[in-house]
Amino acid sequence: PRCIWLSRHGESVYNVEKKIGGDSSLSPRGLQYAEKLPEIVRKSAGDVNLTVWTSTLCRTQQTAQHLPYKQLQWKALDELDAGVCDGMTYEEIEEKYPEDFKARDDDKYEYRYPGGESYRDVVIRLEPIIMELERQENILIVTHQAVLRCIYAYFMNVPQEESPWMSIPLHTLIRLEPRAYGTEVTRIKADI
Ligand code: F6P
Repeated sequence: PRCIWLSRHGESVYNVEKKIGGDSSLSPRGLQYAEKLPEIVRKSAGDVNLTVWTSTLCRTQQTAQHLPYKQLQWKALDELDAGVCDGMTYEEIEEKYPEDFKARDDDKYEYRYPGGESYRDVVIRLEPIIMELERQENILIVTHQAVLRCIYAYFMNVPQEESPWMSIPLHTLIRLEPRAYGTEVTRIKADI
């Protein structure tokens, strides 16, 4: 049966510094996850021949670097664009753009960063990805938190407005198996 595997990139330098966005490399822990990922995927997928989809940002490609499968990069899988807030911590955003910080808190799905995107924008740009996923077999997607929340909500049949609150932790492989009665989920947490 066809399955879809999802993983965030390993912990990045920006994750450690609590900064959003950017194009930073993996931290030492993130690199450990990249090293363990082939074994975790094998445990979950067996000998199935997967295709790996990453974003164009280096942290997703670094995470996928040891996987022995064909890889494809999609710009549409890049992280939600935080516009003028790219590279800031949430504390810095609250201090510099208090009204934006509150507006996002009030409506996280609709809120669009100045010069950037909202969750709704991400859902729309993911449409071709979702269509292609429905057509393909056995894809492993290595991408970013906000993007994975939207893909996850779609396959779990959760209203898209709830995607900003889906739990997609670091260093966890999620396997989705669409079934007649709903999608079956298995999560494997890496031991690092
Ligand atoms: O902190 C990691 C990150 O992927 C950021 O790059 C991104 O802006 C954020 O998570 C999305 O999460 P939230 O919508 O909860 O701010």
